Amino acid sequence: MSVSMDVLVSLCKRRGFIFQSSEIYGGTGSCWDYGPLGVELKNNLRRVWWRDFVQVRNDVVGLDASILMHPMVWKASGHTEKFTDPMVDCRECKLRFRADQVNEQPWTHYCPATKGNKFTVPAGEGCRHCGATRTLCPECGKGELTAPRQFNLMFKTFMGPVEEEATLTYLRPETAQGIFVNFDNVLQAMRLKLPFGIAQIGKAFRNEITPGNFIFRVRELEQMEIEYFVNPHDTVEGRPADEYWHERWIEEYLAWFQRYGMQRENLRLREHDKDELSHYSKRTVDIDYRFPMGWSELMGIANRTDYDLKQHAKFSGKALTYFDEERKEHVVPYVIEPSVGVERPLLAFLVDAYREEEVRGEKRVVLRFHRELAPIKIAVLPLLKKRGEIVAIAHDIRARLARSWRAVYDDTAAIGRLYRRQDEVGTPYCVTVDVKTVGDPDKGEAGDGQVTIRERDSMEQIRVPAAELESVFAGLLGETPWPEVAARYPRTV
Ligand code: GAP
Repeated sequence: MSVSMDVLVSLCKRRGFIFQSSEIYGGTGSCWDYGPLGVELKNNLRRVWWRDFVQVRNDVVGLDASILMHPMVWKASGHTEKFTDPMVDCRECKLRFRADQVNEQPWTHYCPATKGNKFTVPAGEGCRHCGATRTLCPECGKGELTAPRQFNLMFKTFMGPVEEEATLTYLRPETAQGIFVNFDNVLQAMRLKLPFGIAQIGKAFRNEITPGNFIFRVRELEQMEIEYFVNPHDTVEGRPADEYWHERWIEEYLAWFQRYGMQRENLRLREHDKDELSHYSKRTVDIDYRFPMGWSELMGIANRTDYDLKQHAKFSGKALTYFDEERKEHVVPYVIEPSVGVERPLLAFLVDAYREEEVRGEKRVVLRFHRELAPIKIAVLPLLKKRGEIVAIAHDIRARLARSWRAVYDDTAAIGRLYRRQDEVGTPYCVTVDVKTVGDPDKGEAGDGQVTIRERDSMEQIRVPAAELESVFAGLLGETPWPEVAARYPRTV
């Protein structure tokens, strides 16, 4: 059974993942702050993305362009004219809705067949008493909605001290344009050969009409985008290069999401209809995810053709071409754009990680994060916090491990509860220091210098010499699976 959004929002707040922005002032509803565990999770997501799509590849380089750009960028890209959503306003309560989404939410209805009683009717359904369908405002149920009007989603601002038309610019609504305008800089500096990609992670801003569903649709977002440039005259495996690479990127991403924990049954491909395509796109395929509110876009993979490079060449007067040595001709590359936010995959990884299990008659909530995403990798726990030697060794172990991994120390509860707390935030391993580790001088017993490692998912425990922890975790937090490591050491309960 899939986790509900309410449960996730509450867990995220309670355990320090995600807080509402400016909450003490009532919050904004469209911006979120990442707490101590959220920032680790987000950093891990960005890091694995950068490693897998930039660092290990020979055909992708990175970029970090500025958020504020020359206003002409947005004219050339089409955003000033076309980056709009149709919106409707309620004449009564003044709330604003996206015209194309107004039927996708439950609606308030004062039913004439039941003396005007108020009902909340499920999204897209009619009233089961009078059969009416929604015509008025879905929120207040009273106001007429205006006819749709186009609303530009870009945030406006002014560059410099004077607020006038000439200094008007925008917070970028996508990171992509920073890549296009730097195409020639990167090409010349890095002497690249097609096909190649330029990747970027960065903030983008959209004045969404209806933000919501937690971090799914926000106004301040982060994108991880690749613009992958291909020679439109090339063929690969008998197909035009752009079409071949479009398919390749779809496969790459499907595999990538699964590698870090999304289940295949929660992912699906959705082809954009011709009338839905963005103004620059020849073909767009979304990877949708089964979020708690239903199937929704996780990311988009578009064939942007040569639209952006040609537009920027036209508006800037600078040639943005690639010289094909073999054919001795200048070409404007086509672009395949796999574009994903940070928030949506983060939410999807949370959904797929969440489990409620019963362990010895008690409920256990566990986030089965992939070890690379888990905010905390190792928790070091003393079995008895009254024994100074146990506490000292536990602190020492944490400090040693923390040089390589996020490791925490906790002694604020009994061991069972400490394990549950770590399960709930997805910590893959706990290390426990106990009496056997340090021995008991009163009884003349020497310590064995060993500690217990507990694995989150199986809850199996092994006894390991404390001196070997670095090498054991290098394996466990690298590529060595738990059963292989566990087979080398005695089990304990
Ligand atoms: N450069 C192409 C582009 O920006 P998009 O489909 O508008 O295309 C790409 O956005 C991705 O960015 C989305 O699939 C989603 O992952 C993320 N995204 C877009 N708008 C978002 C928002 N308001 N909140 C959270 N993520 C968003």
